[in-house]
Amino acid sequence: MGKDVIIACDFSSAQATFDFLDKFTEEKPFVKIGMELFYAEGPSIVKEIKKRGHKIFLDLKLHDIPNTVKKSMAVLSKLDVDMTNLHAAGTVDMMKAALEGLTREDGTRPLLIAVTQLTSTSEERMQNELLIHASINDTIVKYAQNAKEAGLDGVVCSPLEAGMVKENCGKAFMTVTPGVRFADGDIGDQVRVTTPAKAKEIGSDYIVVGRPITAAEDPVAAYRRCVEEFVG
Ligand code: C5P
Repeated sequence: MGKDVIIACDFSSAQATFDFLDKFTEEKPFVKIGMELFYAEGPSIVKEIKKRGHKIFLDLKLHDIPNTVKKSMAVLSKLDVDMTNLHAAGTVDMMKAALEGLTREDGTRPLLIAVTQLTSTSEERMQNELLIHASINDTIVKYAQNAKEAGLDGVVCSPLEAGMVKENCGKAFMTVTPGVRFADGDIGDQVRVTTPAKAKEIGSDYIVVGRPITAAEDPVAAYRRCVEEFVG
């Protein structure tokens, strides 16, 4: 499994996305397409970016009954994305069904990773609103173990949680981590952040980086700096 930097393409239109990607003339970064862009532009945006030669992480975070998720994953698999995800809260059965749906006739499939607890959910809200009385760290580890049991490839988590996930699920279980900032950069609305170099040290397999690259004066230089620090 190669370590890589995934750029979060949080743009609201295809045009803005293409204007951004056009700046990369020498490399083809791995990109993340989220709900905003997918809902605005539909599956054509995935096909178009794929045609340009990029790897794609389709971040739609599915969460529904197993049968619905299985059928939806079969549709996403046909889009030939490289990685996609769902909420571990949907249970082991839902995650198993998702894998079945995602697996193509020839046995190949995109990587499938699970969201454990969103980093926007505090331990207090998880306990008071969701009535989950374990600690947030125990919940994250248990959800990651459930994802592993279902046969998934890994989880999305904070880089600061990646070590804990690896300890409990094994080194080969992937961690994909947003919340990355340069040491001398703005943290914006992210709270628990770390640098690309520190994420590498903790053991992230992929870092997801949005604004430090997309809002940089020179996005290509910022991307290269990220790759240099994280992949080396
Ligand atoms: O701009 P920034 O680097 O903060 O972008 C991070 C990306 O990762 C965004 O697309 C955000 O939605 C996503 N993400 C996150 N935290 C999570 C899950 C996803 O920041 N727990």
